[in-house]
Amino acid sequence: MRFKDKVVVITGAGSGMGRAAARMFAAEGAVVAVNDFNADTAAAAVAEIEAAGGRAFAIPGDVADETFAQSAIAEVVQRVGRVDILVNNAGVSTIQPATEYQAWRLEMGVNLDAPFYWSRAAAVQSMIPNGGGAIVIVASNACFAAFPGDVGYIASKHGAAGLTKALAVEWAKHNIRVNCVAPGLTETPMVKQGEEKDPERFKVRRARIPMGRTGKPEEQAEAMLFLASDAASYITGLIMNNDGGQMALYSGFSPQ
Ligand SMILES: NC(=O)c1ccc[n+]([C@@H]2O[C@H](COP(=O)([O-])OP(=O)(O)OC[C@H]3O[C@@H](n4cnc5c(N)ncnc54)[C@H](O)[C@@H]3O)[C@@H](O)[C@H]2O)c1
Repeated sequence: MRFKDKVVVITGAGSGMGRAAARMFAAEGAVVAVNDFNADTAAAAVAEIEAAGGRAFAIPGDVADETFAQSAIAEVVQRVGRVDILVNNAGVSTIQPATEYQAWRLEMGVNLDAPFYWSRAAAVQSMIPNGGGAIVIVASNACFAAFPGDVGYIASKHGAAGLTKALAVEWAKHNIRVNCVAPGLTETPMVKQGEEKDPERFKVRRARIPMGRTGKPEEQAEAMLFLASDAASYITGLIMNNDGGQMALYSGFSPQ
């Protein structure tokens, strides 16, 4: 029960690793505010947590809208008093060559603008006046290196890593820790959709994971919970890859 009575806000928590994190924070005693663009999946995540005896409520809406970010955090503060932990997890990926790329604003909005808007809203409205908090930003292996065909994703995730460091150094004096989880290939609906679009791309990626398997959403959630917990009390500004060795492998080699 590392998070007994803590208030945790998670964006994009209707699916994938965000949903796993919502379940796991609630199972350790947190009250979880579940955001997702998709109101049905947000409601389903809340129902799942409540069925397991946990506490949660939904704050559906578009993370990339700063006015919504401010009002959603205000709603959480009004309902349960404060925000102790914020996990900026919502993300989108659009595989397309740079010459034809149409998703630049979308990906910048969800993957980079949103973590800034939500972190600032949580810090200003709750964490700074209440003496501290913990923020986790979910980036990707794409925050360290590039691959062809997803220019907005790579640029926005590199930005998310920079945002982590910028907020970590600026808000350390407020007792707010800001860290980043950088997942490698993980079995979620995002990967399923990408794989349906371009199976060959994912075949190659799967063959280059030193541990020989993709990650599970719960394994990414474990890293989020750790960084948000008191066990990480001296860790801030960390970009933590969680990827079965993918970033450790020199790109010219296959793992075997
Ligand atoms: N799955 C992977 O292999 C992988 C690898 C590296 C990084 N990531 C990152 O992990 C995070 C979670 O992804 P996932 O794999 O669980 O994907 P997912 O698609 O299963 O979940 C993402 C959730 O974000 C929500 N979302 C999208 N746009 C939104 C918006 N504008 N407002 C609110 N919610 C929105 C979606 O509705 C969805 O429920 C993302 O930031 C993603 O970029 C995933």
